[in-house]
Amino acid sequence: MENQNTISTLESGILTIVINRPEKLNALNQQTLNELSAAMDRVYNEAEVKGVIITGSGEKAFVAGADISEFQDFNASQGKDLAEKGQFLFDRIERSPKAVIAAVNGFALGGGCELAMACHIRIASDNAMFGQPEVNLGIVPGYGGTQRMPHLVGKGKALELLLTGDMIDAKTAHSIGLANHVVPLNEVISFSSSILKRIISKSPMAVSKTIKSIIAGYDYDVNGYKEEIKNFSESFNTGDFIEGTTAFLEKRKPDFYKN
Ligand code: COA
Repeated sequence: MENQNTISTLESGILTIVINRPEKLNALNQQTLNELSAAMDRVYNEAEVKGVIITGSGEKAFVAGADISEFQDFNASQGKDLAEKGQFLFDRIERSPKAVIAAVNGFALGGGCELAMACHIRIASDNAMFGQPEVNLGIVPGYGGTQRMPHLVGKGKALELLLTGDMIDAKTAHSIGLANHVVPLNEVISFSSSILKRIISKSPMAVSKTIKSIIAGYDYDVNGYKEEIKNFSESFNTGDFIEGTTAFLEKRKPDFYKN
C-alpha cells in the first residue's frame, strides 16, 4: 500500500509514525486509519521494531479528530462500522507488545485524544490542547474515549471533560494525569525518544508481559491478578530472565539483544 497520509521511519529500533495531513490538522480519515493499521502490523511482526512513537506533522496538531467531512452523511450502521474499525486499531495499539509513546505536538481532539490515550505514554508539547468535543457535533466518542478517559483521569474529571466538550491545555492535562510530561514543542520527539530508549534497553519480554498484565486489569472478562501470576511465572522460562539475573549477579549491564 502506498502511504499518502503517514510517514514511518525506523531508526535504532524506534519506529516513528507521523500522521501527515497538516492541512487538515492530521484528521483521521479512512486512508489514514488504514496506513496506521499497516504500521501497527510492522510493530507486531518486525523484530527490528523495538518501540514506537506516534506524532503529528507540523507544529499545530497531533490529530484534530476523526475526519468530520468523511462521516457527515453516515447512517447508524456506517457509524457502527467506523467505531468498530477505530476501536480495533486503537485496541491493537494499547495491546502492542512494544511500548508506544504519543508525542502530542498540538491539538489532540476527539479521535486524536483517543489515539493518544490508546498509547502507553503521552508526552505533550507546551502548546498541546486535549479534548473530546464530540458533544458539539451531536455524537459520542467512538474510538474508546468514554472508556480510556475515566481510566486515566478518573470518572468525575472524565465526565466533566466529555460532557462539556471543553479543551484543556497541556499543563492541565498533566495535572490530571492525561499527559505524563509537558516539554517545549521542539523537544517533544527527543524527550519521547529518550524515554523509549530507556524502555527498549530493558527486557522486551518483561516489557511486553508488563503491558499485558496492566491491560488485563481493565478487561472485564480477565482477572488482572491471575494474569500477572501467569506472566510472572512464564518469565522464568525465558532467556531474558537468565540474562537479567546473570548480569545482576555478574555486576554487569544486561544485554537482551545479544542473540
Ligand atoms: N475533520 C476534518 N477536517 C478538520 C478537522 C476534523 N476533525 N479538524 C480540522 N479540520 C480541517 C478544517 O476543516 C480546515 O480545513 P479547510 O482549510 O479545508 O477549511 C483545516 O483542518 C484547518 O482547521 P481550522 O478549523 O481552519 O483551524 P483553526 O486553527 O481555526 O481551528 C480547531 C483548530 C482544532 C479548533 C478546529 O479545526 C476544530 O475544532 N476541529 C475539529 C475538532 C473536532 O471536533 N474533533 C472531533 C472530531 S470527532
